[in-house]
Amino acid sequence: MPSSIYTHYPWTSRPLIANAPMAGFAGSRLATAVTIAGGLGFIGAAVDMGILSTQLEEATSVLAGSHISTTGPTLPIGVGFLIFAAKVEDAAAVVAHHRPATILLSCPPEPQDFAFWIKAMHAASPESRIWIQIAGVAAAVEVAQLCSPDVLVLQAADAGGHGGSPGAGLVSLVPETRDALDTAGFPNIPILGAGGISEGRGVAAALACGAEGVLLGTVFLASREVDLSSKEYQQAVLEAADGGISTVRATIFDELLGKSIWPAGYDGRALANSSYNDYLDGVGIEELRRRHADAVTGLDKGFGGERRAAIWAGSGVGLLKEVKAAGDIVRELREGCKVALDRAYSRL
Ligand SMILES: Cc1cc2nc3c(=O)[nH]c(=O)nc-3n(C[C@H](O)[C@H](O)[C@H](O)COP(=O)(O)O)c2cc1C
Repeated sequence: MPSSIYTHYPWTSRPLIANAPMAGFAGSRLATAVTIAGGLGFIGAAVDMGILSTQLEEATSVLAGSHISTTGPTLPIGVGFLIFAAKVEDAAAVVAHHRPATILLSCPPEPQDFAFWIKAMHAASPESRIWIQIAGVAAAVEVAQLCSPDVLVLQAADAGGHGGSPGAGLVSLVPETRDALDTAGFPNIPILGAGGISEGRGVAAALACGAEGVLLGTVFLASREVDLSSKEYQQAVLEAADGGISTVRATIFDELLGKSIWPAGYDGRALANSSYNDYLDGVGIEELRRRHADAVTGLDKGFGGERRAAIWAGSGVGLLKEVKAAGDIVRELREGCKVALDRAYSRL
């Protein structure tokens, strides 16, 4: 049995709900709302560690005025780093200063980069827990052997945003990985499930598959506290239905601004839009970039109208119907999970 993760997060309620560290979307407002509701709130970082530092300062001051204790060795907030994009020394300096409860690492060019980063993060803040997000069974075992993280977040193919590709759905990925980790001698590394979870029934499925908790991104795109550059982004998320059809995984979204900065082996799930449809119709990349550049100069920044800008979202998008407070989303996920498990049990 995995060791309990709850001892490190005394303010949290079960099951553990975390918002994904979505760079540019998950800032201090979202992260503090999730933590205050008894989850683990994450702030996402991309390249600019100055922005992350400012957000951590804001989060510290919001939590100081809440019922959440900030007197422990770490700040009750997580931070996420995209390893391929961030500089480890810059990230370590922010971590050393703010001491987040958790550091989530994802998207390295090579798996070995995790080991290097973990060493630097441990040195910067020994009390912070290290989570690694990964998308495959063998990759999870490799990471466990390389650097034994405190938690593995298993990212299923339904996930919104970027991830390792190809991948599997949560109901096969989580249990197979649990078994593989147990067999390889890592029964104490807890797993969290991610990808395609939008409400309590999905949380219940993840727990039934062996996850200790869940990490969700797309559902918080329909929160009041998410940072969005355009209201049309959220509108598109709410309007989308039938997520397996209305969203697609592709690399073309990363090519629209110029040559993709993403390492090999990653793609991203987003709403199928005009750029994607044109790409399928054989429109060349230069013309796609020209049409995209035209569209993003509009008031809607390319997220409205014929939608040429990437709207990252997972296949659970069809279950989102309205914008809610992030704290309510967290509470509904927890309660909905219990109801779903009770109902499932009553069917036995
Ligand atoms: C808009 C958006 C942005 C994301 N940005 C990041 C990121 O910066 N770093 C990261 O590790 N994961 C990122 N992700 C992926 C999440 O960590 C997570 O795997 C995913 O959201 C889970 O699937 P779900 O969206 O179906 O809940 C992002 C996801 C979305 C939807």
